[in-house]
Amino acid sequence: MNKIEIKHNNEVFDLPIVKGTENETGINIQQLRSKTNLITLDPGFKNTGSCKSSITFLDGENGILRYRGYSIESLAKNASFLEVAYLLIFGDLPLKNELDKLTNDIQDNAIIDEDLKKILDSFPRSAHPMGILSSLTSALIAFNPEKKISLSNSYKNKSEIFLYNTIVKLLAKIPILVSWVHRRRKGLSLDYGDFRNGYVENITRMMFQLPNQTYVQNNVVVNAMNKLLILHADHEQNCSTSTVRIVGSSEASLFASVSAGISALWGRLHGGANQAVIEMLEAIKNDNGDIKKYMIKAKDKSDPFRLMGFGHRVYKNFDPRAKIIKIAAHEVLKDLGINDPILEIAKSLEKEALDDEYFTSRKLYPNVDFYSGIIYKALNIPKEMFTVMFALGRVPGWIAHWREMRLNNDPIGRPRQIYIGEEFREYKKISER
Ligand code: CMC
Repeated sequence: MNKIEIKHNNEVFDLPIVKGTENETGINIQQLRSKTNLITLDPGFKNTGSCKSSITFLDGENGILRYRGYSIESLAKNASFLEVAYLLIFGDLPLKNELDKLTNDIQDNAIIDEDLKKILDSFPRSAHPMGILSSLTSALIAFNPEKKISLSNSYKNKSEIFLYNTIVKLLAKIPILVSWVHRRRKGLSLDYGDFRNGYVENITRMMFQLPNQTYVQNNVVVNAMNKLLILHADHEQNCSTSTVRIVGSSEASLFASVSAGISALWGRLHGGANQAVIEMLEAIKNDNGDIKKYMIKAKDKSDPFRLMGFGHRVYKNFDPRAKIIKIAAHEVLKDLGINDPILEIAKSLEKEALDDEYFTSRKLYPNVDFYSGIIYKALNIPKEMFTVMFALGRVPGWIAHWREMRLNNDPIGRPRQIYIGEEFREYKKISER
């Protein structure tokens, strides 16, 4: 059966069924309006596919996440973040010479106009790092202008080489901006580092190197960071990635699209949850570890409090990233010799929720953000920077989706609506109202 029949006003119409590689099935409604004059209504796009994509496969019922066919478990265990970035963006794991070339190209672009430091300096010290990162990413456009888009020079005609050059610029400059945002908050000098020492190695060095001290790389920190970045690298059509795709669909540049993605990620229902989780766990700790009180609040519909780091739009069994991160949190704390009581509170809260009918009946499980903050905290990253670290990890995913959309010549994103406002009214002058 490759079509579905719908009956409307006593007429029957056929709509085609589309199937994906893993048998996910959808109704193609592109002809629905022209055939029936109907649109579909789906606030929050809870059951709407916005595109076909070859990048990431996610089976929320069975807790499966794969990048380009590779399981998240094997990538997190074995791969480097830059390999994963290459995989997501270009479709296959890189050969050695391909990875070397990417690394060198990134290093060649690891420069930012010094004037950008003036923009950074103009932000108040109290400004949230996500707002600064989004603004600086957008400001990069001014220092890296593209040739004017004209009718004969639209994105549709842009070559793979143009896309590649734009992509390596972003892969080089975002980690530098992230380290600058972090260092400025700490009053430290700003640096560029050297990506030829390893992409993640350079990120940790740029963030943590202290003035007048020989930098000694801590492999526990590098490995933990590598794993976290891989686990965050893509998650198909989530809020920020859909934002990147919809902004990019108007032929806005990659930098502009990613800047919008960073803003979308900021909210606490999305990437901002990692900061909110630690704030929640700290609040519980300061409240004598009274977990039961917060469970009651989370279930009370008249209380706006939600258990942060719990629940997910698509995972209705478990979030495979959360499983990996929970184990990693234990290992990192042990390796760094840290005893953080917050971890014990998190584990007790998780246990309590997983035994509670409210959470089990709604299939609410810990998500990627529940334990990630505990690792970031152990790595000495301030909580306001947690979502910035998520953004850093998500950059390859955003790029991969933007590139896929461009190469597919996807149409501009433009949903419809059901209008529920006033019917036609005559304008009345202010004196007659
Ligand atoms: N605490 C208490 N109740 C919850 C929670 C929670 N964390 N999450 C969902 N619910 C309830 C919700 O009130 C609703 O109950 P009812 O059916 O009685 O009205 C039911 O579960 C379904 O929730 P929903 O809000 O309709 O589900 P959604 O798919 O629209 O929202 C979510 C998904 C992630 C926004 C939501 O679960 C949430 O707010 N979680 C806390 C924030 C969080 O951890 N976000 C990070 C998501 S993972 C990282 C990422 O990729 O962004």
